[in-house]
Amino acid sequence: MVTGGAGFIGSHLVERLLDEGHHVVCVDTFDDYYSGKEVNIGSIAEHPSFELQRTNILDYDALLASFNGAEVVFHQAAQPGVRVSIVNPFKTYSTNVNGTLNVLLASRDSDVKKVVYASSSSVYGNGVPMPTHEDCETKPISPYGVSKLATEHYCRVFGELYGMKIVALRYFTVFGPRQRPDMAIRKFVRLMESGQPVNIYGDGEQTRDFTFISDAIEANILAMGSSGADGEAVNIGGGSSVTVNQVVHKIRANYPESPEPIYQEVQQGDVDHTLSDNSKARELLGWKPAVSFDQGLKEFIDWYRSNIQGKAIGD
Ligand code: UGA
Repeated sequence: MVTGGAGFIGSHLVERLLDEGHHVVCVDTFDDYYSGKEVNIGSIAEHPSFELQRTNILDYDALLASFNGAEVVFHQAAQPGVRVSIVNPFKTYSTNVNGTLNVLLASRDSDVKKVVYASSSSVYGNGVPMPTHEDCETKPISPYGVSKLATEHYCRVFGELYGMKIVALRYFTVFGPRQRPDMAIRKFVRLMESGQPVNIYGDGEQTRDFTFISDAIEANILAMGSSGADGEAVNIGGGSSVTVNQVVHKIRANYPESPEPIYQEVQQGDVDHTLSDNSKARELLGWKPAVSFDQGLKEFIDWYRSNIQGKAIGD
């Protein structure tokens, strides 16, 4: 069972699970926060082991019916995005907290053996040591980060109260083919493709530990197959520390004619830096990132260029 299975991370996870021979139920409500989700699952829609259920995670009864017989639930559905959570904190709260409670309750009530939960580096906020270990203080600075931290606690408490096996993966800015259209790398490439200037928030010296999609998926597969991280929250970060200016510079190398970036005010809720200490993931899951930022960026641009022809991806 993959909630949010038509989204960026969810659709890659569905593909990988199908490749491994699992029967996969994709639960997705096709929320209009961004478009292109039908395209994300287009190539697997007819797969004999794939089932699509247009269920909203806010509907417990429908979710329970969908979960019937599920062994493992990968809970990827969410209202994602830091900046949108500042504009509409209630939607972020409702989808992420109420929705996750429903997923946990439906998992409990249908005897699901394992839940893997998509958490976020946003739980940390600013001022934590770099690289950041899971034991550091969590003090989110956006409603999105608060929602992810609150639900991590529900995961832990559900494990303790009901004996459930739940792992929270703290993803660090995941990128790659099918990345959400509101995220930086995809926005930058889209704008440069059409000869427009990109916007850089603040001075562009903020850093991100960008994580390639296949590495994030590998962490989910490992979490499914081992019990080492049950009850834990684990950093999943690609291990790079790249400034936004460097990201723009690297993408512009592919678009030498593109105009100079435009600098705008810092966006509220944006953390200054992220960099994961991955030792816990190595120890408990046997996970380590395999794809460098540069390799991943190349793969993303190749994907974008080959899919934008005919506007298959809706940008
Ligand atoms: C991302 C995701 O959007 C969250 O859903 C996820 O939970 C989070 O990573 C995480 O790691 O926890 P973010 O790091 O803000 O959040 O990712 P991007 O939207 O790709 O932004 C990266 C950086 O680029 C930010 O510093 C942002 O301010 C900057 N940016 C973004 C710009 O300078 N210009 C833009 O047009 C967009």
